[in-house]
Amino acid sequence: MRYSRADFPRDFTFGAATSSYQIEGHGQGGAGRTHWDDFAATPGNVVRAENGARACDHFNRYEEDLDLAARLGLDAYRFSTSWARVLPEGTGKPNDEGLDFYDRLVDAMLERKLKPYATLYHWELPSPLADKGGWRNRDIAEWFGEFTHVLMSRIGDRVHAAAPINEPWCVAWLSHFMGLHAPGLRDIRAAARAMHHVLLAHGRAIEVMRGLGMQNLGAVTNHEYAMPADSTDESAAAAKLYDGIYNRWFLSAIYGGTYPPDVLEHLEPHMPKGWQDDMKAISAPVDWAGMNYYTRKLVAPGETGLFCDFKEMTGNLPQTTMGWEIYPEGLYQLLIRVSQAYARNIPIFVTENGMSAADKIRKGAVNDAHRIDYLDKHMEVVRRSIDEGVNLKGYFIWSLMDNYEWALGYEKRFGLVHVDFNSLARTPKASYHALQKALAR
Ligand code: NOJ
Repeated sequence: MRYSRADFPRDFTFGAATSSYQIEGHGQGGAGRTHWDDFAATPGNVVRAENGARACDHFNRYEEDLDLAARLGLDAYRFSTSWARVLPEGTGKPNDEGLDFYDRLVDAMLERKLKPYATLYHWELPSPLADKGGWRNRDIAEWFGEFTHVLMSRIGDRVHAAAPINEPWCVAWLSHFMGLHAPGLRDIRAAARAMHHVLLAHGRAIEVMRGLGMQNLGAVTNHEYAMPADSTDESAAAAKLYDGIYNRWFLSAIYGGTYPPDVLEHLEPHMPKGWQDDMKAISAPVDWAGMNYYTRKLVAPGETGLFCDFKEMTGNLPQTTMGWEIYPEGLYQLLIRVSQAYARNIPIFVTENGMSAADKIRKGAVNDAHRIDYLDKHMEVVRRSIDEGVNLKGYFIWSLMDNYEWALGYEKRFGLVHVDFNSLARTPKASYHALQKALAR
């Protein structure tokens, strides 16, 4: 790699990220059913109807996986916790086996000197709560508060940092308006409610964790760099609104306690009554801002003329197997913007960045030179943003290992470590070895 630890400030944190449903193997350890299991069981939603029942079997192999993370030279490990593993019914009686698992997992990180960065919710909602309306139901803030309390009463004393919800845009818009993730709705009213309730739940979890005396609490939002697809005024307006729904909605609410007027104008008729009274809870102060970034999007208005109908296009930059263009400059621009306009007085972390590729084992090795290049290019802008004064304190790679890529199943490989989904063998890729060298102290 062109970059190494020496190019970054001494206290800069390098980490890798994963999530519970994508790696654990949800079918074991007494976890309850989730809306993702239901979604995946419906033909047409997920490639080959694959699900996370076995995934990487991390539930049984977590020590081996954390050894890999530690040997890589990482300072931190970002993981998530499964609500349905802890509370199979969503509320009520906890599953001791689930709580014990996260207890052991956090201890295993600490034993290996990996700082635990916990995310409470990374997309697998207990089915009984989905049956009650899930993110459309305002009560979800209280249900989520209960889960937060049960889990963090057990592990909150040892996690280094915690964030309530991974990528609220995906939880709300992608899942309730675009229909691409569970529960697979295409319903503007459901989407507007989810856009608000996901933030309310975030605020409630922060309040609960503060009540438990926890510190170092943050938020993890996802970002695409939106650009007009052409030079027309219409495309410029579409890109601005796309940016509003994708990026500004969540940033303004969490860090400023307001919704951006250009988006609110359209969503207001569908918002739950009295939403204004929640803005204080939503913007409860946090200690850091986490940003996930993968790509840019070229935007033009869709055919229907509806405000939320966008034509999303790619340009002619090299793409990953997700069809995502590789555009490090977008990360740079977003870092500058978030540090200047939103997370003004708190540190920022890139909580996810990485690429998928059709990585194959040949003669026992995986030559993913493309990933080394991708990481170098993104570290370059991370480095540059620090020079420009962004208070950036860490960079997490998605992902430690190949895993279940949601609606796209097991064929999109994002890992630094290759996983054979038949034998479950782990094989560090060339990017792992390169990074190991770069991170050596
Ligand atoms: C963001 C999500 O947090 C994660 O679950 C997903 O696998 C990666 N992006 C790659 O799409």
